[in-house]
Amino acid sequence: MTIYTTSAAALALLLGTTRAHMVMNTPTPFNLHGTDKLLQVNPLGPSFPFPCQGLSDVVSTTSITAGTSQLVNFTGGAQHGGGSCQFSLTYENPLPTDKARWKTIYTLIGGCPVSAEGNLPVTGRDADGRADALHCGNDSGVECIRQFNIPIPKELPNGNATFAWTWFNKIGNREVYMNCAPVSITGGTGGNGNFFRALPDMFLANIPGECTTGNGVLNIPNPGRFGAVLEQPAPGSEGSCAKADGVPTFEGGSGGGSSGTPVSTPVSSASQAPPAASSSGFATQTSSAGGVATPASSTAAAPIPSATTGAGSGSGSGPSGSQPCSPNGAIICFSPTSFGLCANGAAIPQAVAPGTTCNAGVIVRRSAKFAFW
Ligand SMILES: *[C@@H]1O[C@H](CO)[C@@H](O)[C@H](O)[C@H]1NC(C)=O
Ligand SMILES: *[C@@H]1O[C@H](CO)[C@@H](O)[C@H](O)[C@H]1NC(C)=O
Ligand SMILES: *[C@@H]1O[C@H](CO)[C@@H](O)[C@H](O)[C@H]1NC(C)=O
Repeated sequence: MTIYTTSAAALALLLGTTRAHMVMNTPTPFNLHGTDKLLQVNPLGPSFPFPCQGLSDVVSTTSITAGTSQLVNFTGGAQHGGGSCQFSLTYENPLPTDKARWKTIYTLIGGCPVSAEGNLPVTGRDADGRADALHCGNDSGVECIRQFNIPIPKELPNGNATFAWTWFNKIGNREVYMNCAPVSITGGTGGNGNFFRALPDMFLANIPGECTTGNGVLNIPNPGRFGAVLEQPAPGSEGSCAKADGVPTFEGGSGGGSSGTPVSTPVSSASQAPPAASSSGFATQTSSAGGVATPASSTAAAPIPSATTGAGSGSGSGPSGSQPCSPNGAIICFSPTSFGLCANGAAIPQAVAPGTTCNAGVIVRRSAKFAFW
């Protein structure tokens, strides 16, 4: 008996830690180390309140240059098959409890931070005891933890801010996770803050007082203009929340309702983005349209920039270098200059069109020679 009890307790303890969820480790979040450590054993809830699980101990402040991209990386055990996520900012301190004071700069529909059948095997632990799993080392691998280069808009105001990752898991209980990192933004155009205010409010659900999402990959409503569809959203994923207006067409798709056909060439300018960063900056887009783009109406497939067509989709050039992928229709970035369109579970690398770059599942123009709206 005693032995049984002891091992059950030990098992519970073990499960308690192995079931820890994903933690954003870069940019360095509040309480990554220290006594009140961010363990992310639970989603937001009464003991881990919105915003930021109630945590605000600065470990280190990450400097971010507007108009470039910021690496976002994770540590973690339970990936729940991935899901949809947002990257948002607030400039307020203390951290606002009004979600409308958090503005989203990038939205990923599906594939965040994994594209997997379920939970990945635990491969080890970090120095703080958090479970970790296989890392892809890129933004497109499957059955491994991805990392993303998130474009930081050039038009952001400069100053101290808080960068948040919010995550709606694909499989399991309907939950929302949130990690926040103190950042210092420079190089922005600053201005009157109109650009920032016109960004969409962070989407929030699955906590008391908010709606409850449905199952599968969430189609986040009002995702803004900047983002990528890495997996198709599940029908009914809105649950009791506002229903998104079709599968979003990010970037070029926001200019008009070019539904049904591949999205027009996405133009986002990041003239000085280093090739390795593959960041496109998105930044020079002005919000002259009065703000937030509404998602164009539904297209069946993930956004396929016309650049991809130009890059030789006709070339059925044999399976050399073919990589497994999912879902069909997704754009797989092999590198900033090489991509593949996922078809029948495989993607064949091919060069991106001159002047474009592949990042986080979308192909964007590297330099803006012309305005597009
Ligand atoms: C991402 O985080 C993992 C730890 O979970 C680390 O091993 C890996 O080196 C990190 N990748 C980058 C690019 O920092
Ligand atoms: C940002 O925070 C740092 C450290 O708290 C402070 O020294 C600095 O003055 C702040 N900068 C601005 C622009 O508020
Ligand atoms: C992305 O990561 C996966 C898993 O590590 C790997 O199989 C794939 O080749 C990588 N793709 C690129 C372009 O590096």
